[in-house]
Amino acid sequence: MEKKLLEQRLKKIFEYAKDVDALLIMQGDENSVDKTFFYITDPDGGIFESSALIVKPDNVKILTSQLEEEIAKRTGMDVIVTKGMADLKKQIVENLKGLNTIGLNYTSLTLEQYRDLLRIVPDKEFVNISSSIEESRRLKDTEELNRIREAAKIASEAIQNVIPRIKEGMTETELASEMVYQMMRLGASEPSFSTIVAFGKNASMPHYSPGNAKLKRGDFVLIDYGARYKRYCSDVTRTMVFGKATEEQKDVYNTVLAAQKAGFSKIKENVNGKDVDLAARTVIDESKYKGRFIHSLGHGVGMDVHDHPAFSPNFDIPIKENMVVTVEPGIYIPDFGGVRIEDDVIVKKDGCEIISTAPRDLIEL
Ligand code: GLY
Ligand code: MN
Ligand code: MN
Repeated sequence: MEKKLLEQRLKKIFEYAKDVDALLIMQGDENSVDKTFFYITDPDGGIFESSALIVKPDNVKILTSQLEEEIAKRTGMDVIVTKGMADLKKQIVENLKGLNTIGLNYTSLTLEQYRDLLRIVPDKEFVNISSSIEESRRLKDTEELNRIREAAKIASEAIQNVIPRIKEGMTETELASEMVYQMMRLGASEPSFSTIVAFGKNASMPHYSPGNAKLKRGDFVLIDYGARYKRYCSDVTRTMVFGKATEEQKDVYNTVLAAQKAGFSKIKENVNGKDVDLAARTVIDESKYKGRFIHSLGHGVGMDVHDHPAFSPNFDIPIKENMVVTVEPGIYIPDFGGVRIEDDVIVKKDGCEIISTAPRDLIEL
């Protein structure tokens, strides 16, 4: 990461976390990864289990094992190579000497890590800086926006390559694997989450897991997928009909599309997240599908596919320029199916930039 970019990120975090002498970011195993570690260090690889960061406003120290030494050093930051957990703890004690108030990210810290810290550095005052990190990470900088744009571009192109490969009799998992393959061919490091493919009635379940259902004429084909590019995600959904759509399918589809348009047109800096949700929800609730939009309109996208902020009835906070959020209304009807259309947008002063560009009108395959 460029020095200037790092300075900018640290400035943002410490602006919100003024009273701390340093941040201590802990990495456990794969169940307790704190993506803030990558936000600050941006290594070009590595997993960094059982590692830590000691972050001061003008200096970052990476404490990690020999396994990650080479990648860690390529960041240009100070690296302390540790030999096992006991040594990591010893180095944390050493490197926190002389510092009193330590910021911890309570959102990602495990209870075990916290109890260890209370034992090994009992003299410190710990402050929860998770909201500072959240605030900082929800406003994307240029590099982050470029990566998310690329992730969205990969997703948008990948579905165009997949559409001609959708064939009668193929299974949901076959189509999901095709989707992942096309995204990786186009430069994704991996899918940003497990691809959802739902045929026919299965599309009524927003978080359906693809199975062995075979595609048949008249089915909805719902694909919810995303690419990860240099750690940043996209999250897109397209719903098509295999064959000619019935009037009911078209009506559901066009209602969702109109709801999405209403959502897009409400977005600009300083609008409350809940009001964007309401604009889209009203379109559905004033149709005969009232009550069938059963989730929030959208969520932030970043290194996490479900990042901050949100377009939801409870999000009573103004959105800001350079936040990246999904707009994903849906109508779900058990025993019939469902439609979701999902795109990713960057919030602008006077509107939004839609960065996922796959066609949005109903496709009859
Ligand atoms: N892929 C899950 C979601 O759209 O939020
Ligand atoms: Mn999605
Ligand atoms: Mn989503």
